[in-house]
Amino acid sequence: MKPAEQSPAAPELSPLQSLDHWEEDILERYPDPESIAQGKETTEYRNYEDPKRETVKEFYRLNHTYQTYDFVQEKRADYLRFNKKKMPVWAAFDFLNELVDDSDPDTDLDQLQHLLQTSEAIRADGHPDWMVLAGLMHDMGKVLCLFGEPQWAVVGDTFPVGCAHSDKIVYPEFFAANPDAADERYNTRYGVYEANCGLDNVTMSWGHDEYVYHMMKPYLPEPALYMLRYHSFYAQHREHAYDHLMSAHDQEMFKWVNLFNPYDLYSKNPTPPNWNELRGYYEQLVKKYLPEELMF
Ligand SMILES: [Fe+2]
Ligand SMILES: [Fe+2]
Repeated sequence: MKPAEQSPAAPELSPLQSLDHWEEDILERYPDPESIAQGKETTEYRNYEDPKRETVKEFYRLNHTYQTYDFVQEKRADYLRFNKKKMPVWAAFDFLNELVDDSDPDTDLDQLQHLLQTSEAIRADGHPDWMVLAGLMHDMGKVLCLFGEPQWAVVGDTFPVGCAHSDKIVYPEFFAANPDAADERYNTRYGVYEANCGLDNVTMSWGHDEYVYHMMKPYLPEPALYMLRYHSFYAQHREHAYDHLMSAHDQEMFKWVNLFNPYDLYSKNPTPPNWNELRGYYEQLVKKYLPEELMF
């Protein structure tokens, strides 16, 4: 995936042809339990040919090598100033949609369509409207790609930096190349943190989750903010690899993260949502919670 009408980024920095390939790979790891129960398996996700899997592996190699404690601090200091761009909310969705798939534009849904499928699935199940809005906004942080960030600094499973990397994180062997793994400040179980200090005191690897969390922080209730911030933290919400850093409050809030996650992963459907029918509802919803313009 690349910004539209620009020359492709250096191939060694952006191995994925489409950001969706990372998410398809997550589906291989965590197939939809409902499809399995119905005997459908998830063959449509399992069929993809090996070259794709190789690019996902290379993507994780880069992610695990370069996401260091210092790298994350630099990105936070830069992006969390929110001084890059100011956009009306709906213009921000147009901007996000400038991310164009290199692979197969006919079969892949654009970013807004994935967001709407997520939010519509949440709405159909009767959840609170702020959760619907979390569904609508959860991948807005992918605009980081359009600000020139490589794929490994935008998507991928997220994990704490500043302490030992769990072997429950996908492709843990690639952390051997991460300088933090040899740094005794950062390579112990607790690293720079204290037992059960709470995730608010823990720095996560940099990407679209952390960015959109900070963007939405003034506007959404706490459970929605947990959904945004930790939606790619599979090592915790699926593997419980970082219970030793979590507070009792985090554990409570992760019930919301767990509730949210299947809507993100399993709501993908080849039929695009009908924007003309949905527009009225979403314009009202956005107006209820968000300011006219968002800062990036
Ligand atoms: Fe995401
Ligand atoms: Fe998503």
